[in-house]
Amino acid sequence: MSYLETARRVYRDAAAHVEKTLCCVPSAPFRLPGLAIPRAMEEMNYGCGTTVHLQDLSPLGDVLYLGVGSGLEALQFAYVTRRPGSVIAVDAVPEMIAVARRNLLEAVRENAWFRAEFVELLEGDALALPLPDARVDVVAQNCLFNIFTSDDLDHALAEAARVLKPGGRLVLSDPICERPIPDRLRADERLRAQCLSGARPLDEYLDRVVRAGFGTIEIRARRPYRVLDRRRYGVETDLVLESVEAVAVKTPAPADGACVFAGETAIFVGAEEAFDDGRGHVVPRDVPLPVCRKTARAFRDLGRADLIVTPPTWHHSGGGCC
Ligand SMILES: C[S@@+](CC[C@H](N)C(=O)[O-])C[C@H]1O[C@@H](n2cnc3c(N)ncnc32)[C@H](O)[C@@H]1O
Repeated sequence: MSYLETARRVYRDAAAHVEKTLCCVPSAPFRLPGLAIPRAMEEMNYGCGTTVHLQDLSPLGDVLYLGVGSGLEALQFAYVTRRPGSVIAVDAVPEMIAVARRNLLEAVRENAWFRAEFVELLEGDALALPLPDARVDVVAQNCLFNIFTSDDLDHALAEAARVLKPGGRLVLSDPICERPIPDRLRADERLRAQCLSGARPLDEYLDRVVRAGFGTIEIRARRPYRVLDRRRYGVETDLVLESVEAVAVKTPAPADGACVFAGETAIFVGAEEAFDDGRGHVVPRDVPLPVCRKTARAFRDLGRADLIVTPPTWHHSGGGCC
């Protein structure tokens, strides 16, 4: 049996009854005016963060949601799109699709604005998407890609890039690890399916996203997720997992590399009104300018006392130097 089949079995079980500790992170319940989330949908939230970032939602075209789970985020996207077929939600596990369908029908009863046709549920695999090229404006996945081995992750990212329109956005939420997870745990199909041992260090994760054709990435959040501790997992020292939320834009990367925004800013405090690096970056005096990691590094390397670069906050919500 392949690890992908193990993952299907794990989610068949997780569709049958709520698994309270599967994937979740501490976060406040997502509330929007007029949006009622059915209880069963909220209880079966198997995401490790969110892919629904309000600042990105207008204008919002068609959304492809990978790994529908209970249907929670598909409903949240539909809250914004409100058109028949505007959210396409794919899942490889028929039992999970049945749960999402049931929850979405309950959402129709609880939300006057919502119609079941807004979300199209499709059985399918993130590794072979049942959609034509350049079909959607947004692809979102929450806590699915980390399950994949490296080759399959590259494949899933290539599929996401294929079905996105140029300039489209891939919204990601996945566990990451502070140092590589031992091979013994990575090979454990059940732990991997439970989003506990497939995570990668952030830089490797982002490199793979960039290589799939995403030239700009914005890190929206990093949160504590789990610890693979010595007692239960037999690691030498406790291994901390976080979850990362990121938005990747399908644009060509500049010749000197992709722009990854991680919440760093440049603040100019010199005598002039602005600092101009002659490479397209102008930092006005006293006003923090969000800079990508590449520009932050280049500015630090200048060693100027009047150009301060703040450390990454890992919370960037748009705008900036590039
Ligand atoms: C960790 S759950 C996340 C569910 C949902 N995204 C959420 O945030 O609650 C992973 C989901 O991916 C689905 N899945 C597993 N393997 C898949 C694959 N190869 N292609 C598409 N979906 C898959 C599972 O059935 C499950 O619904």
